[in-house]
Amino acid sequence: MTTVIVGTGIAGLVCALAHPRPEDVLVLTKAEPTASNTFAAQGGIAAVTDPAGDSIAAHVADTLTAGAGLCDAAAVRALCADGPDRIADLIAAGVPFDRSPAGGLARGLEAAHSVARILHAGGDATGAGIAEALLRAVTGRGIEVRPHTLVTALITDGGRVRGVRTLTSGGAGEDITADAVVLATGGAGQLYPYTSNPEVATADGVALAARAGAVLADLEFYQFHPTTLALPGNFLISEAVRGEGAVLRDHTGERFMLAVHPDAELAPRDVVARGVADRMRETGAPVFLDATAFGDRLATRFPSIDAAVRAAGLDWAHEPVPITPAAHYWMGGVATDLAGRTSLPGLYAVGEVARTGVHGANRLASNSLLEGAVFGHRAALALSDGPFEHAGKPVEDQNDRTVRATSARCTRDELQQAVWEGVGLGRDDAGLAATEARLAGWSGEPAPATVAEHETANLLLAARLMARAARARTRSAGAHFRTDDARVLETAS
Ligand code: SIN
Repeated sequence: MTTVIVGTGIAGLVCALAHPRPEDVLVLTKAEPTASNTFAAQGGIAAVTDPAGDSIAAHVADTLTAGAGLCDAAAVRALCADGPDRIADLIAAGVPFDRSPAGGLARGLEAAHSVARILHAGGDATGAGIAEALLRAVTGRGIEVRPHTLVTALITDGGRVRGVRTLTSGGAGEDITADAVVLATGGAGQLYPYTSNPEVATADGVALAARAGAVLADLEFYQFHPTTLALPGNFLISEAVRGEGAVLRDHTGERFMLAVHPDAELAPRDVVARGVADRMRETGAPVFLDATAFGDRLATRFPSIDAAVRAAGLDWAHEPVPITPAAHYWMGGVATDLAGRTSLPGLYAVGEVARTGVHGANRLASNSLLEGAVFGHRAALALSDGPFEHAGKPVEDQNDRTVRATSARCTRDELQQAVWEGVGLGRDDAGLAATEARLAGWSGEPAPATVAEHETANLLLAARLMARAARARTRSAGAHFRTDDARVLETAS
């Protein structure tokens, strides 16, 4: 009963760690095991760890509100209710969460949370703390983690997933038979030219699942983070910095978010991202994050960010720094039930690649690491019973199985630019139609041979699916902002 887990972020590693038969588990990753969105995560993991000052009901309410009415309520309840146990597991696995002077867990506040409930490790190196501890625990269980091995296809037989086809960075290929395949491949930030995501985030899992015929959902919902450094690489400046009091100013020094939303810089992430982008467009000038009130405390409270900002030649302790929104997190993905089961027998999906329904149209800050831990664990428990049919509520099948006539290959840059222009922070029908036509006119590599060629083909397929889903949803919802929605036009006039 072999289980192949694809990906070494929190979801894949928790699934491996909780799997009932470690001897049957093989973990594959296309790069180094630490190359993941999890490892890069600065801001923390949200969960109820102070029953006196917080509650599961409050965490559920905050998550539903952020999701703009489009969350799956049962999935949200599972996420929040399982949260405290999964935090306990992470602590048991050796994750060094930050402590208050009294010795308890230190809890921070982030946008759209009603209570300070965000746990961090190493100040702003939460993901690294989690990934390193989990990798140690997984290998300590005797589970093989095989790096530099890209999955290029799911092997199916009679509608059931039976294994994976792989390609190593050295060019060798191998088919691996499995009773269950768990996609934990992470996100797709490389769809855009500006992203907080690492280079490995190339929509691989969504593309693999789509080609195999799995049901996908909510692909139009892509979240942009409001504050990345407006410099090449778009280094993320965690929401925790605003959570602790940093503010946004335009080039005249005005705190423009005060006029946009009652919660100003701590409004839901889509509101802040659009507020920043609008102000940049209106003024034709940069927008700045002002964290100078912290002064030299920045170096101790946010050591990783401080080092990166200073390495970029900016003295953020004494002057505001230019920021810009950038692609951050895909709420949509491979549709699953509450145990990670997809519509294809034998195929599971956990973490960012999955659409569990917990995020709706807009993810609440710091719920993504929690989702990985909760649903990675749930999938592992389901695997002990054997693969099942998809048991979740039916969702719209957004899969595009058509093979289009194609004319020209696209470069990664062309693809990213097209997606940014057509399926970025604001969308309209004309722009989406033009983007769809542009994407349809390009071919991925007809016979991808290298890892990079496979990745570009995956991005192209994901971009087509996302553009189509975005065009089909004509009303704005959360991160999907239709500038041609009559209600948006009314507000603007
Ligand atoms: C951040 O630190 O702002 C990112 C955390 C998240 O995306 O949840």
